[in-house]
Amino acid sequence: MSRSKRKIDHIRHALGHERAPYNHFDDVNIVHQSLARLDFNQITLKAQAGELNLSSPLFVNAMTGGGGEKTREINRDLAVAAKETGIGMAVGSQMSAIKRPEERSTYEIVREMNPDGVVFANVGSEASLQQAVEAVDMIDANALQIHINTLQELIMPEGDRDFSSRMSNIQAIVEGMDRPVIIKEVGYGMSMETAQTLYDIGVRYIDVGGRGGTNFSRVENLRREKPLSSFNNWGIPTPASILEVKSSQTMHVFASGGIRHGLDGAKAAVLGASGFGMAGSLLKVLMEEGREALIEEINHVHQEFKMAMMLLNASSPEELHQKPHVLTGETRTWQEQRITK
Ligand code: FNR
Repeated sequence: MSRSKRKIDHIRHALGHERAPYNHFDDVNIVHQSLARLDFNQITLKAQAGELNLSSPLFVNAMTGGGGEKTREINRDLAVAAKETGIGMAVGSQMSAIKRPEERSTYEIVREMNPDGVVFANVGSEASLQQAVEAVDMIDANALQIHINTLQELIMPEGDRDFSSRMSNIQAIVEGMDRPVIIKEVGYGMSMETAQTLYDIGVRYIDVGGRGGTNFSRVENLRREKPLSSFNNWGIPTPASILEVKSSQTMHVFASGGIRHGLDGAKAAVLGASGFGMAGSLLKVLMEEGREALIEEINHVHQEFKMAMMLLNASSPEELHQKPHVLTGETRTWQEQRITK
């Protein structure tokens, strides 16, 4: 099977696997406020995350690394939709294009299609500072995402096994990079201990990439002769992970992992997230219904997010932080045993 065919199969598996029936955002109950005081048409989606100015808290999260005409087309369409709707976009891992210059156009098209938009570069934690700078330069990125995906690698038969230099790699990149560096999970969530360790080496931006949406244990297990299925439910659910990371140091937090709509995005903001990423669900709309449908979907997510802002009298996404809410179910247990103990 060719490399690009394998990539497309991987995407299909990532989009096609069954989602968990229980989404932990259902545990986050925002307290309705009857007395509205804002004009819906005056509400701004402009958001600030540390040094990053965003025209919306929503961004397309990292997907579709590697070469091939199909992945380039997907990136082009995601970039056009991001431009049309004024949202940010992270590209998929650029590690393969750093090693194979002929794959660079898969990523460069994102900046070509959206010259003034917010774009995030993406590398793995095996990257050196020089490779990270190359990834950023390739698309003139506004920020860099470094993904950490230990469990995914361990399930992949050909995955990495030696993680002993990952911390020092991350530190070197954070110290040497001239723009924000976001450390990102890929669906297993980030704990307060991880956040503290990252804070100590200079990290100020985290994308929690929690459990609840695209599940790489399931995806990679499909390729194993003897699946390691006991790890299919491993990881910290996204709302719990936001609470974990926000519980101590002042990290700028992006929420992602299983965000289904604008209301989940608003709940993430109530828990303290400055922005939220959607990956699998947006790619599914693009691949099944096309670019116009994706633009419509993003506008729909914006509408839902603004409705939540209106109902809570929040005139900017930041004003959603700490609005009255009640936690139930597993998220409440998580909060009682990990956050307020
Ligand atoms: C991903 N994701 C991902 N993340 C990353 O940092 N680098 C990457 O190259 C990829 N590649 C990738 C491909 C595909 C097809 C999917 C669906 C996802 C992970 C993604 O950014 C996100 O963290 C997770 O998918 C969880 O978010 P959703 O899908 O539940 O919204």
